[in-house]
Amino acid sequence: MSAKAETAGDIRMKGAGYYSLATTGAKIVIDRAATLVLQALDAMDIPDDGTPFAMADMGCADGGTSIDMIGRALHHVRAKAPSRPLTMTYTDLPRNDFSQVFQIVHGQTDIATYAPDMENLYVFASGTSFHQRIFPANTLNLGFSATASHYISERPGPITNHVHMVGAEGAERDAYVEQGRADWMRILGNRAAELVSGGRLILVNFCRDEEGRYLGGTDGVDMFDTFDRLWRALAEDGTITMAEYEATVFPQYYRDVEECSAPLIDPNNPVYQAGLRLDHIETRVIDCPYRLDYEEHGDAAKFAKEYIPTLRSWSESVFFAGLSTDRPLEERAKIIDRFYNSYETFVRECPEGQGMDYVHTYMVIHKE
Ligand SMILES: C[S@@+](CC[C@H](N)C(=O)[O-])C[C@H]1O[C@@H](n2cnc3c(N)ncnc32)[C@H](O)[C@@H]1O
Repeated sequence: MSAKAETAGDIRMKGAGYYSLATTGAKIVIDRAATLVLQALDAMDIPDDGTPFAMADMGCADGGTSIDMIGRALHHVRAKAPSRPLTMTYTDLPRNDFSQVFQIVHGQTDIATYAPDMENLYVFASGTSFHQRIFPANTLNLGFSATASHYISERPGPITNHVHMVGAEGAERDAYVEQGRADWMRILGNRAAELVSGGRLILVNFCRDEEGRYLGGTDGVDMFDTFDRLWRALAEDGTITMAEYEATVFPQYYRDVEECSAPLIDPNNPVYQAGLRLDHIETRVIDCPYRLDYEEHGDAAKFAKEYIPTLRSWSESVFFAGLSTDRPLEERAKIIDRFYNSYETFVRECPEGQGMDYVHTYMVIHKE
């Protein structure tokens, strides 16, 4: 299998509600964006003129992690402009579990939701990638996206010494830098076309912060180094082949503040020329909630059992995609179970310094 490949086929959050149940931290990340979203709405001119007001959550997974924040934002618009119909569009890749999105939003799960009690609200979904145009020109009032735009549209090549760009070196790393730059320009360019004049984007992205920290790579045990070490161990003991190890690369790029800001502050950049301006950018680190719990209860086995599913919810499809399709499905599933079991054992035996702290940029952007 070539490591240079389109990525959409092997990016997939675990479905059937697993994602939201296993990702407490992602919800905290989104809930903490609520103030920025409400402030952005307050800064917008939202006349009470009866025209539809369009919101979107791009890269929504099952919609459960953003449900409270989206509900607050929709209620805020309703209070400012009661006559306006509200449209709420959830977007993700075609293989996303959109059925779960609708079950959550329409109140058919245990998760509390805004939709059943709101009138004149229209909920939609789109399976179009955010690397493409999703909405007609000048129709989107407020776009939100969390923890998604680090997914690049294609792998620009192999990373032979690691499973993630944070561990890549030299020309292999440079290729990911360039892919990350080009995709970011494309994402922003598409949103620039879709936003109405005066519209806002609130983007919460995984990043490398001013101190070089990134997801699971703050202090203590580095999560991506651990993924790499345990996956390589399976190649070394013959469970998987070296070709499968090398074919396993997260299709992600973590931008730093400078890279996130560049298209929005350079007057010569096409994104700037399309009217997008940076209102606000900051980085935030949110502590791993599973490690915080462990610090309270002190039970390493409980920590390992609760923590590994959150890693698995977003990473499993990448390791699965690295395995040769010549192996029967059942064999691939067994290898994946063995891999995550080895991570669980590692956490149980060496719990100190483990955890997946979230490191994000929080950005507010407007269109002139
Ligand atoms: C880590 S999840 C984040 C989900 C949710 N926004 C949150 O913060 O909890 C990343 C989501 O982005 C989606 N995604 C990745 N690449 C995408 C693309 N090109 N277009 C749309 N969604 C994409 C994935 O399918 C996944 O559902």
